[in-house]
Amino acid sequence: MTELLEVQDLKVSFGAGREAVRGVDLTVGRGETLAVVGESGCGKSLTALSLLGLEPAAAQVTGSAKLAGTELIGRGERELRRLRGTRAAMIFQDPMSSLNPTTRIGTQIAEVLAIHSPTRRSARLRQAVELMESVGITDAAARARQMPHELSGGMRQRVMISIALAGSPELLIADEPTTALDVTVQAQVLALLRERTRDTALLFITHDMGVVAEIADRVAVMYAGKVVETGTVREVLEAPRHPYTAALLRSVPDPDRPAAGELPTIPGQVPAVGAVLEGCPFRPRCDHADETCAAAPALVEGVACWHPVSRESQEVA
Ligand SMILES: Nc1ncnc2c1ncn2[C@@H]1O[C@H](COP(=O)(O)OP(=O)(O)O)[C@@H](O)[C@H]1O
Ligand code: SF4
Ligand SMILES: [Mg+2]
Repeated sequence: MTELLEVQDLKVSFGAGREAVRGVDLTVGRGETLAVVGESGCGKSLTALSLLGLEPAAAQVTGSAKLAGTELIGRGERELRRLRGTRAAMIFQDPMSSLNPTTRIGTQIAEVLAIHSPTRRSARLRQAVELMESVGITDAAARARQMPHELSGGMRQRVMISIALAGSPELLIADEPTTALDVTVQAQVLALLRERTRDTALLFITHDMGVVAEIADRVAVMYAGKVVETGTVREVLEAPRHPYTAALLRSVPDPDRPAAGELPTIPGQVPAVGAVLEGCPFRPRCDHADETCAAAPALVEGVACWHPVSRESQEVA
């Protein structure tokens, strides 16, 4: 089976020796949810942004990312704009960054609908209200006349989800969409995303292992600009093979239902962008490191480590 999204050796750099994403490989199947998890600064957002050509102007992106066979890297802005919304869409942590603060919510949704289907303005406004209802916004007709700042964070994120899905994209990329929300609202928004992306591939970025268990089919763990472990959520959360994944999960009491919240703290620091990374980047923080680790391990059978923990040796419930 060919995957919907195939990312190979994706690199994002800010000049010589300043690589923030250092060769990411990942795939997302049709209708599948892949969670990308890792500590702050490991390159999750840059990976996501570069797929849609939204990386910072100073960044150079190389490698390959194919969406149903269409190469996304190196496309011109015009082509990317056509692609965004209709084939792939993105939602961000802060919906206010994507909403126009001085335009009514209903009008903003209607403007997006206009790009996708040229109907009359009154019909589009009606459709906008229906879309708001479909993402669980009560009293949608009244809310449609409100400004973004009059809505709660959870409601705004619901609006963003409806806007992102309005063009029926094959792939939705969500970058920490629930991080700014309180726990109850976070659960509601995750449930909504799960329900509304049953047939849409979802690339879900988070630093929260609890959220991974809630939303994803598969997971890719990133460290210092690379994927260090990947597999099904069950495999990776119940029997992590990379010492970094194990460390992330260590303080989580039940791997099936990790407590939501921040990742447990791992001693040591994520290497800064531009730091000289010789050998395995996790080496300074790793309990299993030996002289072999002076050479960088490649991602082989879902793990980039010279001494991966065997899955069989771990108790799987
Ligand atoms: N515009 C930029 N200019 C220079 N460096 C950047 C820029 N944006 C991000 N970086 C660097 O890239 C690294 C990865 O960033 P990011 O992808 O946002 O991480 P994450 O989303 O995993 O927290 C950061 O540690 C930062 O140092
Ligand atoms: S390659 Fe070596 S240093 Fe890196 S995670 Fe594996 S054991 Fe640790
Ligand atoms: Mg980020």
